[in-house]
Amino acid sequence: MILGIRNRLTLAFLLLSLMILFVISFILLNLLERYYLTHEEESLERSGFLAAEMMVTYLKENADPVTVSALAENFSRQLNARVLVLNNEGTVVGDSVRVGGLLGSLLDRPEVTLALSGDKGLNVQYSELSEQWVMQMAVPVKSNGEIRGAIFLSSSLRHVYNTLEAVKSFLFFSTLAVIVLVGATGVLLAERLARPIKVLIEAVHRMSEGDLEQQIKVSSKDEIGLLAEQFNLMASRLAEMHQRQRRFVSDVSHELRTPLTSLSLCVKTLKDYPMDPEEQREFLEDMDQEIKRLANLLEDLLALTKTEEKILRRKAVDLKPLLEEVMLRNMDRAQRQGIQLFKIIPDNLPQVLINAEEIKRVLYNLLDNAIKYTPEGGWIQVEAREEEKQIRVIVKDTGCGIPEEALPHVFERFYRVDKARSRELGGTGLGLAICREIIEKHGGMMEVSSTLGEGSAFSFTLPLAEGKGKAEEL
Ligand SMILES: Nc1ncnc2c1ncn2[C@@H]1O[C@H](COP(=O)(O)OP(=O)(O)OP(=O)(O)O)[C@@H](O)[C@H]1O
Ligand SMILES: [Mg+2]
Repeated sequence: MILGIRNRLTLAFLLLSLMILFVISFILLNLLERYYLTHEEESLERSGFLAAEMMVTYLKENADPVTVSALAENFSRQLNARVLVLNNEGTVVGDSVRVGGLLGSLLDRPEVTLALSGDKGLNVQYSELSEQWVMQMAVPVKSNGEIRGAIFLSSSLRHVYNTLEAVKSFLFFSTLAVIVLVGATGVLLAERLARPIKVLIEAVHRMSEGDLEQQIKVSSKDEIGLLAEQFNLMASRLAEMHQRQRRFVSDVSHELRTPLTSLSLCVKTLKDYPMDPEEQREFLEDMDQEIKRLANLLEDLLALTKTEEKILRRKAVDLKPLLEEVMLRNMDRAQRQGIQLFKIIPDNLPQVLINAEEIKRVLYNLLDNAIKYTPEGGWIQVEAREEEKQIRVIVKDTGCGIPEEALPHVFERFYRVDKARSRELGGTGLGLAICREIIEKHGGMMEVSSTLGEGSAFSFTLPLAEGKGKAEEL
């Protein structure tokens, strides 16, 4: 089974708190046990030596076991421990337990051996007989440096282990409470973390099913909030791109339909109606025009899609000869329409980093427009000048100009101010869109200013080559 983030987080919270509680409980219980046992040992030792001091005279004089036992019993009541008095051979000469005691028997225990050799003997063990933990200690009874016997004390540790048991059960119930608390908080916290992720997953799922209009609510400023913000940005960009693409396809279809309808009409007329050769020639002429228009449109569409890879092949190029070459190509056409062409291009222009063919296409399109939309007797001027880190090229004409409300749209695909007129002049409305695409891919900017009835000025900027060799390929 795959655990979700919520369950995994809750489980991690629980495991971590349990581990911390176990370690703390283990250390606490150990410390407490050590503390109690040391305390017990110290008090037993003190009592043992006190008893030894008291018993020394009785042992020296080989006193009557009944007297010694009575004393031991007295001690035992005060200490709450069994007290045995042993002579220097390890034989019990006094026992606080009278009935069934060990009086007269030899107590052969390692603690006693230690005590009889002058040391303290200690042992903690579980007594099967009394079913409890006991601490046993033997201390020597000395007189003038001579060992007279030993005192053996056996004290119950029940109160110590009862206290430890109480602490243990307190810790156990605390652990249970912590599990419930941490579990509940963990579930709540994990739910808060996992909820926006779930929302995101659902939105991504809906997107993958084709619904691109997805926006999710950003409710936090943390990483998940940032992720949601980025998602919204991505979704709106995708939706916008999709929208643009659909519009482009419908525009292209529309543009293709007009010449195709016209062609089909011509073919039908030629087929169905008898005509003299002169009329037939006129129809064929029209068909030729439409075919050319189709070819132009396809070429422009191809240009739009190919700019990306072409821009990658850039070189340092002298702009002046390039501009002059394109102007020369348009000279005849301009003269035929009674339009004059001027240029202001300095000789010492620095080189620009461009794909020459693409920039020629830009200038060609701008000159083509200027010639198309300038009446007889007008003039066109091509100017190039150096600006900070770039070169600006301006194509100015004294043509019909563009109305102010149309200016923001002239670079859009298929946009034409006067559709009928532009179509008549053979335009598809892709020229300026291609220009802007090429210039922006070069890192430049395309601008337009125009006054209706007076003329227009289209300008674009190009990046300088900045010391890169003329033949250097990037
Ligand atoms: N120099 C200009 N003077 C006046 N109007 C212009 C000028 N240049 C462009 N325009 C207007 O902007 C529109 C878009 O120009 P664009 O070059 O994109 O298309 P087009 O010239 O109609 O067709 P083509 O794709 O053949 O270039 C033109 O239809 C025209 O209305
Ligand atoms: Mg054009």
